[in-house]
Amino acid sequence: MSSTAQPPTPPGSASDHPEHLGHVVFITAAAAMGGFLFGYDSSVINGAVEAIRDRYAIGSAELAQVIAIALIGCAIGAATAGRIADRIGRIACMRIASVLFTASAIGSALPFALWDLAMWRIIGGFAIGMASVIGPAYIAEVSPPAYRGRLASFQQAAIVIGIAVSQLVNFGILQIADGDQRGEIGGLEAWQWMLGVMVVPALLYGLLSFAIPESPRYLLSAGKTERARKVLTEVEGEHIDLDRRVAEIEQAMRREHKSTFRDLLGSRFGFLPIVWVGIGLSVFQQLVGINVVFYYSTTLWQSVGIDPSGSFFYSFTTSIVNIVGTVIAMVFVDRIGRRPLALIGSAGMAIALAFEAWAFSAPLVNGKLPSVEGAVALVAAHVFVLFFALSWGVVVWVLLGEMFPNKIRAAALGVAASAQWIANWAITASFPSLADWNLSATYIIYACFAALSIPFVLLFVRETKGKPLEEMG
Ligand code: GLC
Repeated sequence: MSSTAQPPTPPGSASDHPEHLGHVVFITAAAAMGGFLFGYDSSVINGAVEAIRDRYAIGSAELAQVIAIALIGCAIGAATAGRIADRIGRIACMRIASVLFTASAIGSALPFALWDLAMWRIIGGFAIGMASVIGPAYIAEVSPPAYRGRLASFQQAAIVIGIAVSQLVNFGILQIADGDQRGEIGGLEAWQWMLGVMVVPALLYGLLSFAIPESPRYLLSAGKTERARKVLTEVEGEHIDLDRRVAEIEQAMRREHKSTFRDLLGSRFGFLPIVWVGIGLSVFQQLVGINVVFYYSTTLWQSVGIDPSGSFFYSFTTSIVNIVGTVIAMVFVDRIGRRPLALIGSAGMAIALAFEAWAFSAPLVNGKLPSVEGAVALVAAHVFVLFFALSWGVVVWVLLGEMFPNKIRAAALGVAASAQWIANWAITASFPSLADWNLSATYIIYACFAALSIPFVLLFVRETKGKPLEEMG
C-alpha cells in the first residue's frame, strides 16, 4: 500500500510500534466477528430452503418471503444501532447483538410454526443490522489513523469468510444426513442443525467482546477520561502525547455534537446530497443482484440441471472467488482508489451479467442447460462475483465508513446501511418470482443496474483515498 494513500502517521503511533499494531489487529478482528455473523447468518438459509419449503408445503413466493423477512429486521437493526451505541456504548451494543444472534439461532432451529421461524429470522436480522453498523463504526474509532483504510476492509473480509464457512458447515451437516436436508441427526433434521450451529460464533462474538476495550471516543463522551486514556495508550502506543490526543478528540467531539436524523436533512432534496450518494452506493451494491448468488445458488444451479452435490460445489467455489476478490480489493483500495475500483467492477459485472442472460435464454433440454450455455453460465457467475468482490463489496463499506462529514457520520451510516438492507430485501424477495417469469430477463435487469452504476460513480462519488476524515464534507 503506498504511503501517500494514507493520512499522515502521528509521531510515536502504533505504526512505529508493531506490538501495538498486533493488538489493534486483534481488536479489529474481534469486532469484525460481527461481520462474520452477518455473512454467516444471511447465507446459511441457502442450505435449508428446500427443507423449509417441503416441511411447510409452501410455494416460491412464500419461501422468498421467509428468506427475505430477516432483511427487514436488518434494516431496523441498522437504523437503530447508532443510537443504541451512543447511549450505552459500542461494546454493550455488540453484547446485545451476540445475545440476539444466539437466541435467533436456537429459535430458528426449533420453530413450531412457519411464523415462529420467520420471527426468529427477523430477530437474527436485527442483530445482523446492528453488526453491520457497529463493526465499521467501532473499527474506525479504535484504528490508528495510518491503518484505518486497511483495517476497515476487515469487516467485508469477515463477511465473505462468514458466507464461505456457512456453506462448508451446511455441506458437512448434509454429508452426515446422507445428502437429505430433512435427514435426521440426533433427533433434529439436518436443516435445523444448519440454523442452530450459529450459536457457536454468536457466543464467541459475545465472549470476544470481553477481551476488547470500549472505544476511546465513547468513553470520553461518557466522561470516563481515565479509561479513555488507558485505551488510547493500548491502541496507539505508550509514546503518544496523551494529553494532546485526548484534547484533539474532545475538540473534534465538541465540533461534532451528536448527529441526529434531522442533521441529515437538506433544503431541496429531503436528505443532504451526500446522504443521497451514500444511499445510492448502498442501493446499487444490491441491485446488481449479488445476493441472488449467495442466497439462492443451491436452488439456481439445481434448476438448470446440476445435481445437489455439484450445486453445493459451485456455491462454494463462488465463495472462494469472493474471498480472493476481497483480498485483491484490500490491496488496491488505498493504492488506486475507491472510484477506479468501483468503475472497473461495474464494467466487469455488467459484461458478466450479460453473458449470464445469454446463457439462460437457451431452452432447457431434459431440464438442463445445453453444455455450452451451462459452461458459460457457470464461468460468468464466477466472473461476476470476482468483479463484485474486488470493487463494490469492499468499496461501499469502506466509503460508508469514511465519506460523511464527522457531524453526520453515525446517523448517515445508519440511513445508508438500512437503505442497503431494504434494497437487498427487494432483490431477494422478488428473485424467485422473476426467475419463474424469465431468468434471462432477470439477469438483463441486473446488468442494466451494473451499467447505470458507472454514470452514478462518475457524476456523484468523490474520491476519498488518502483524505483525513476531518476533511470529509
Ligand atoms: C457485501 C454486501 C452483502 C453481500 C456481500 C457478499 O458485504 O453488503 O450484501 O452479501 O458483500 O460478499
